Amino acid sequence: MSGNGIFITFEGIDGSGKSTQARALADNIKSTGQEVVLTREPGGSPGAEAIRCLLVEGDTDRWSPETEILLFTAARRDHLERTIEPALAAGKVVISDRFADSTRVYQGVARAELRQTVDLLHDRMIGREPDLTFVIDMDPEAALSRGLARNSGEDRFEEFGLSFQQKLRSGFLDLAKQFPERCHVINGSHGVEEVSKAVLSIFETFRK
Ligand code: TYD
Repeated sequence: MSGNGIFITFEGIDGSGKSTQARALADNIKSTGQEVVLTREPGGSPGAEAIRCLLVEGDTDRWSPETEILLFTAARRDHLERTIEPALAAGKVVISDRFADSTRVYQGVARAELRQTVDLLHDRMIGREPDLTFVIDMDPEAALSRGLARNSGEDRFEEFGLSFQQKLRSGFLDLAKQFPERCHVINGSHGVEEVSKAVLSIFETFRK
């Protein structure tokens, strides 16, 4: 179903710089003449963007972890149907700022121990893994000060605090070990240029 496209995801804790890196990789690939769709989760299609507003705004106790899993999965299903699969079928490179690994770590490990539930729903409703995943690793204290400084009104998850971000960090590192073929851990504490060079070189090796 995926044609000849390549599906790439960026993952990491809040404020890790993954969005900047996703954009930089997209620009690099576009400059070679290849068509790229840069997208994000939660969101990435009109329906999923509507669900995003429910998820990222409001009080931390607005939703239980179980309800979050359902909302993130509903948003992902729409994103997959409307944006990701059509682009891959057309042979494009799809770069998503977050995907299913975020649910595995945020709802499966850090918010609650619900990894089995996350996996069950993923198998039934999504059933697709990226070809390549970059986990941008970063000290939570440094990342949190970056993230909150943005003050975007979408801070619901960032407001869970430092120990939550620490759980996320180790969750992402564990996850990278569970999917070693596709996951590459990148040190995000270096400068933007240095990190994007590391990302590009892994992508180029993958494409060969
Ligand atoms: P995002 O827009 O990527 O925020 P940031 O740019 O700060 O990384 O994602 C919004 C929040 O939603 C973020 O705190 C992570 C959280 N999230 C989950 O908890 N589960 C998920 O499945 C996804 C995709 C995101």
